[in-house]
Amino acid sequence: MYSSLYRNVVSKFDAESAHRLGVNAFHYGYVGFRAARAMGVLDQPDPKGAVTVMGITFPAPLGLAAGMDKNGESVRGLAAAGFGFVEIGTVTARAQPGNPKPRSWRELDVRGLRNQMGFNNDGADAVAERLSVMRASPEGAKVIMGVNIGKTKATPAADAAADYAYSARVLSPYADYMVVNVSSPNTPGLRDLQSTEALHPILVAVQAAMDDGGKRVPLLVKIAPDLADEDVDAVADLAGELGLDGIVATNTTIAHDRGPGGLSGPPVHARALEVVSRLRARVGAHMTIIGVGGIDSIEDARALRAAGANLLQTYTGFVYNGPGWVARMNAELTR
Ligand code: FNR
Repeated sequence: MYSSLYRNVVSKFDAESAHRLGVNAFHYGYVGFRAARAMGVLDQPDPKGAVTVMGITFPAPLGLAAGMDKNGESVRGLAAAGFGFVEIGTVTARAQPGNPKPRSWRELDVRGLRNQMGFNNDGADAVAERLSVMRASPEGAKVIMGVNIGKTKATPAADAAADYAYSARVLSPYADYMVVNVSSPNTPGLRDLQSTEALHPILVAVQAAMDDGGKRVPLLVKIAPDLADEDVDAVADLAGELGLDGIVATNTTIAHDRGPGGLSGPPVHARALEVVSRLRARVGAHMTIIGVGGIDSIEDARALRAAGANLLQTYTGFVYNGPGWVARMNAELTR
């Protein structure tokens, strides 16, 4: 059903309008999803699939990756669609429009997406306000939600730590976990913050902000698939040294020749697998790894888990496979 809906309706819109349509559908659709679940039309998450890491029980292992619900508008609808958890963002300290359109493209031949959105978002204060309303509802209080934060484009790299800290202070009270994103290819210089010298002060400032005015929740860092192996190891070591709770691997890749922006979907999968297994070997058993990149089938999901991921996320696979796919994947992963 989704494939004909996709062919006849969704694909008629440009990629960004289709995305907007989808986010709105989940915003308004969550009552429908709840009803469908209650009627037994949608699978209820099987308690056997729950994963407890970082002191949090995730009802199912596959969650939504950052970038789809940048502003936290549709968290309840997305969770009701069967995601075990929802990561919102990237949110920046100050609101910003992102790059000029067009800024996202379908790469149909590889079932991928390419984007150079540039962290378009409402800014930390507005998102915090929205999340406080969401968390006040019984459904919204229950959703396991991560908040992914990035640097405001206008903030110079030298002030990055304060920029991240601001967002962490304002948003952590509503988050189950926070992610420091230093791996998007579409904010100039952002990925340079993955170097341990640049990353160290940012992570320390974020931890301090959560303790002072925010809320101390588990902290993870999200890395790019394009890091050299030695740099993956260096981030892993830094995460261990600072007592971080986990690593999200990976973001989109710039290792392609399809035009501007980061590529997602199956072309990222092989490197995501490598990065996850390298990380697992480096950090040992105690640290949480969220594996993300090119999950398009149950085999892909199983492979990332076998490589060492405790939890999984998807973005592009969800776009291509449709809303029913997530609950099916989670059911299958539990079996
Ligand atoms: C993303 N991704 C992303 N990641 C992030 O940390 N912050 C963000 O704002 C975004 N924005 C974003 C927009 C679009 C259009 C896409 C396709 C992706 C990256 C995403 O979370 C994920 O890491 C990658 O897409 C790889 O996973 P998939 O898509 O192959 O499952």
